[in-house]
Amino acid sequence: MNIILLGPPGSGKGTQAKRIEQRHGIVQLSTGDMLRATAASGTEFGTRVKAIMDSGQLVPDDTIIEMINDRIAQPDCRRGFILDGFPRTVPQAEALDAMLARHGLKLDHVILLDVDAATLVDRLSGRFTCNRCGASYHERYNQPRREGICDVCGSPEFVRRADDRPEAVTARFEVYRRQTEPILPYYTERGILRRVDGVADIDAVTAEIESVLSSASSSGGPV
Ligand code: AP5
Repeated sequence: MNIILLGPPGSGKGTQAKRIEQRHGIVQLSTGDMLRATAASGTEFGTRVKAIMDSGQLVPDDTIIEMINDRIAQPDCRRGFILDGFPRTVPQAEALDAMLARHGLKLDHVILLDVDAATLVDRLSGRFTCNRCGASYHERYNQPRREGICDVCGSPEFVRRADDRPEAVTARFEVYRRQTEPILPYYTERGILRRVDGVADIDAVTAEIESVLSSASSSGGPV
């Protein structure tokens, strides 16, 4: 099963992708996590990537497309994958179609997490993430089960993301509106996009996603 999770910054893509990964045994492919690893590498390229991310802008399409193309060819993607944070522009959506066709794969579901702006700001301002695996938590809505220990990987180290500062959050919302929202019609026109109420609590969102996933594949054939 191959899935795209779409939604604005803070809509819960990462939180839900980790749950789908655990429940269905398919791999989460988070371009944000991959880029944060690159940014932390200390290379000149990593430093450039970090500056782009911290400002809330998008990394160039070519870089991202090459990264995902390499990643979906890996053996752990054979059972399926959840794209979290990709595609984010129309050229990325078009490139995804081409790469799926090359690999003989199809999209089964494209799910949009619908969340209003005030809720997004509240979520991003209270978020902290695991420094090792990137799992997202929230000061009020989503604390680790054992205080100070990541539920997913057991790490005791948490960080706040530089792009969750208010100036960067404003830029990320604007970038989402200008560059990512235009891909919604791309999937709506093909009848594959399903909207899920992302404002509900985390378990309720998971339940709604599960109901979409258990429905027949939305696309019905190769893209
Ligand atoms: P990325 O890491 O993908 O960031 P994003 O899309 O802005 O999304 P977030 O990770 O901020 O939020 P999320 O939707 O995963 O929400 P989460 O589950 O954490 O990208 C970062 C940057 O990398 C980009 O700005 C760009 O520079 C670059 N980049 C990445 N992909 C790219 C691409 N394809 N092309 C070009 N550049 C790219 O939840 C948020 C908070 O809310 C958490 O605290 C969580 O615990 C809480 N929460 C979640 N769900 C709920 C709920 N239902 N109720 C209450 N709280 C909730």
